[in-house]
Amino acid sequence: MILQSPRALQVHRLQVNGRAVEVAAAPGRRLSTVLREDLALPGTKVGCDAGDCGACTVLLDGDAVCACLLPLAQAEGRAVTTIEGLGEAGRLAALQAAFLKHGAAQCGICTPGMIMAGAALLAQSPKPSAAQVEEALGGVLCRCTGYRKIITAVCEAWRFEGAQPASPQPAAGAAVGVPVERLDGVEKVNGRDRFGADSWPAEALAVRVLRSPHHHAGFRLGNLEAWRASTPGLTAVLTAADIPGQNRYGVIPPFADQPALATDVARFRGEAVALVVGEASVVATLDLDTFPIDWEERPAVLTAAAAQDPAAPQLHADRPGNLLTQGLVECGDPEAALASAVFTVEGSVETAYVEHAYIEPEAGAAWMEGDCLVIQACTQAPGMDRADTAVVLGLPESRVRIIPTATGGGFGSKLDVSLQPLLGLAVLKTGRPARLVYTRRESMASTTKRHPASLQARIGADAEGRIVGFQMEGAFNTGAYASWGPTVANRVPVHASGPYRTPNYRTRARAIHSHGPISGAFRGFGVPQAAILQEQLYDELAEACGMDRLAFRRLNALRDGDATVTGQVLEAGVGIADCLEALQGPWDEALAAADAANVEGGPWRRGVGLASCWYGCGNTSLSNPSTIKIALAADGAVVLHQGAVDIGQGSNTVIAQIAADALGLPLSQFRLVGGDTAVTPDAGKTSASRQTFVSGRAAAAAGASLRTAILREANVSTDATLSVTGQRLTVTEAGASRDLDLGALPADAEGYVFRAEETYDPPTTPLDEKGQGKPYAVYGYGAQLVELSVDKGLGLVRLHRITAAHDLGRVINPLLAEGQIEGGIAQGIGLALMEEYLPGRSENLHDYLIPTIGDVPEVRSILIEKPDPEGPFGAKGLGEHALIPTAPAILNAIRHACGAKITQLPALPHRVLAAIRKAEGRA
Ligand code: FES
Repeated sequence: MILQSPRALQVHRLQVNGRAVEVAAAPGRRLSTVLREDLALPGTKVGCDAGDCGACTVLLDGDAVCACLLPLAQAEGRAVTTIEGLGEAGRLAALQAAFLKHGAAQCGICTPGMIMAGAALLAQSPKPSAAQVEEALGGVLCRCTGYRKIITAVCEAWRFEGAQPASPQPAAGAAVGVPVERLDGVEKVNGRDRFGADSWPAEALAVRVLRSPHHHAGFRLGNLEAWRASTPGLTAVLTAADIPGQNRYGVIPPFADQPALATDVARFRGEAVALVVGEASVVATLDLDTFPIDWEERPAVLTAAAAQDPAAPQLHADRPGNLLTQGLVECGDPEAALASAVFTVEGSVETAYVEHAYIEPEAGAAWMEGDCLVIQACTQAPGMDRADTAVVLGLPESRVRIIPTATGGGFGSKLDVSLQPLLGLAVLKTGRPARLVYTRRESMASTTKRHPASLQARIGADAEGRIVGFQMEGAFNTGAYASWGPTVANRVPVHASGPYRTPNYRTRARAIHSHGPISGAFRGFGVPQAAILQEQLYDELAEACGMDRLAFRRLNALRDGDATVTGQVLEAGVGIADCLEALQGPWDEALAAADAANVEGGPWRRGVGLASCWYGCGNTSLSNPSTIKIALAADGAVVLHQGAVDIGQGSNTVIAQIAADALGLPLSQFRLVGGDTAVTPDAGKTSASRQTFVSGRAAAAAGASLRTAILREANVSTDATLSVTGQRLTVTEAGASRDLDLGALPADAEGYVFRAEETYDPPTTPLDEKGQGKPYAVYGYGAQLVELSVDKGLGLVRLHRITAAHDLGRVINPLLAEGQIEGGIAQGIGLALMEEYLPGRSENLHDYLIPTIGDVPEVRSILIEKPDPEGPFGAKGLGEHALIPTAPAILNAIRHACGAKITQLPALPHRVLAAIRKAEGRA
């Protein structure tokens, strides 16, 4: 068979996964494109098309190569192996099994590349060392896992040759607490998971987006129809004038301000201005530089400070001073407390734009089914996507269906719609299915970032080292449009005290518009930035008080019965003191090791740092319900309709574990129906560390409700046990069993004979004008200890080990919890030491550096269980928490090592050197 690519020039013959194939294509066509689009092997992923991320790694005659960099001609006559070529029918290869067993795949977008790079290594070294793995996999990026479990999986793969160890299969009622493999894991390690760019209707048109090359510019469109007509195969050119609904969307409706396509003015570089839609072969090669548009570049302000200058251009007419909004929390009398404090410290810090850098750029496809617009795309929030898309396209929500694909990382940015309304517009206007895949550059230029923050604070303590007063002011650069700026402004003041008793307190956070990239949600919603300053100052305050830094934190840690700075009394489940106590031994050992190492002299100085976190799970003082449905089908299947999008964090597995125990049937009998606005109830967005807690509570309620319905039908008490074998449901009580033939019971339209659907919404209260109230129903806590060395001559930082103690209330799945901690720490390392997004200058993964496999040290996780009565089985959230303490703990360790006080992040070597010189009085 000869496969024809649209611009066939030459027939190429090669072996792919042991099969001889011929491909008629241009010699320069990327091998990754040939594999994915010509040979229907989408297990090979594309994250950058530049050889930076390694997601497309395949084997070429046994060597690991980036398929995106390899022209087809260079594969001529050679053997190519992809992820689909590993393993045998129905059986995973040993390395794939090891990845699954060790939790080495989270979102799974990097997993095929990781596995192929690992396979090349194992062919040479069947039992490699960790150092060999780090070297062999150094070219493949992972944004989720923190790499440690990947290293373990490759090192341990040899154990999975032959008979592979059976997975733990918890019995009925015993799933919670068991480190079960992720239920959606097989497809992630065998390359069968389908992400946004992996499937589309055969007749789909391709869409490209024309974007602003300027930070701020007016524009005039030329003769679009003439331009379109001059290019055969170009079906439509669409602009704001084509939008049938309201050309304005936003994740927080009262602040909605972002046009799907700009009208007249672009407010940031990368803003979408027009769509070109046509046959894929035409659109892919179209020169958008010929697009008829005249730009008028205008003055731009890129920082919050510049945007607050009275002479600065105003981005939105109704937001004077470029102030989007501000949040305030105040209690006691901080001025008086600071004036009378025995010890006071003060300081400031500046943080950078941080890019989410998920390995999967935004991608999806859309089509019509009857009068319903169907959009299949990566996302964290299908319900919100539907709402925003419907508004823009002027459709009732009932005529928009969102089907989330597997999502290759999100970390907050895929909460905002990106391509969904654009795809929908293309479909509505052309009447054809459409497909859109962002390039790495446009993904980085056009989607949200972590807010750059400018923070100042002053903190005081009494003679015994008790915190008596705290003040912080923060300006957060929220970029051109609102996105999650209001959430950051509200969340930071609630959390800026850290998990410490603070009787007199005022923190104000302002979200300021600029012409920079839009700042949105990124793992922590501003809290990590505040913690960077607050935890550094607590180190200084401890020293001023003459106290050990850990002892200072243990003295001030919140405990059950304490009130927070919002006046919320935490009745139970406050686990920060437990986390800090768990670090006492590692802390003492680390300090002793640092002292011993520093005796030797030399440029490398060893230091130890510590920081804490707390984080409220779910929306701040706003309703954020989740609904979960569970049913028992006539064929005996237990079906969990679980719409909490699993972006790698493990909600598919964790929520099923909770539901299984609430229902009383084994987890292994569950069948998952994933997020799809047509078939799963709305479980809300995957953000704010809410899914384990909020959707978990809904799942527990739904499981219990289904159990009640079954027991009622069987007329037995709540002590009865359940089992299902085929169509037979057996109910056993006091040694007596009774069978129900499920096939004989009346079934509903979905084939279910029993069903339950329950909703849970966390009980919170609004915050008053001083920020007093109950913003969250559940908080999670944690503390991390960092050991590192600093080269005083070069400013380099080498991490040795991070010990992380996190209170999860109840650990639903220890394997997945460790993965969250390790992944959060890796992102915290990037925040502290290397990540700085510069608009227009680092819109790719070779100028924007994220931690690689060699940058994440050993991580020791300590899981603390201090149950919260509100959480399902006592559980709390973890996702954001794991990132928050890492950066300040690193900065505190740097200062401990060499005296360098870092006030501008990231702590790049030149900044560390400058801080060392300043500390030594040489600045
Ligand atoms: Fe590696 Fe998500 S699991 S990028």
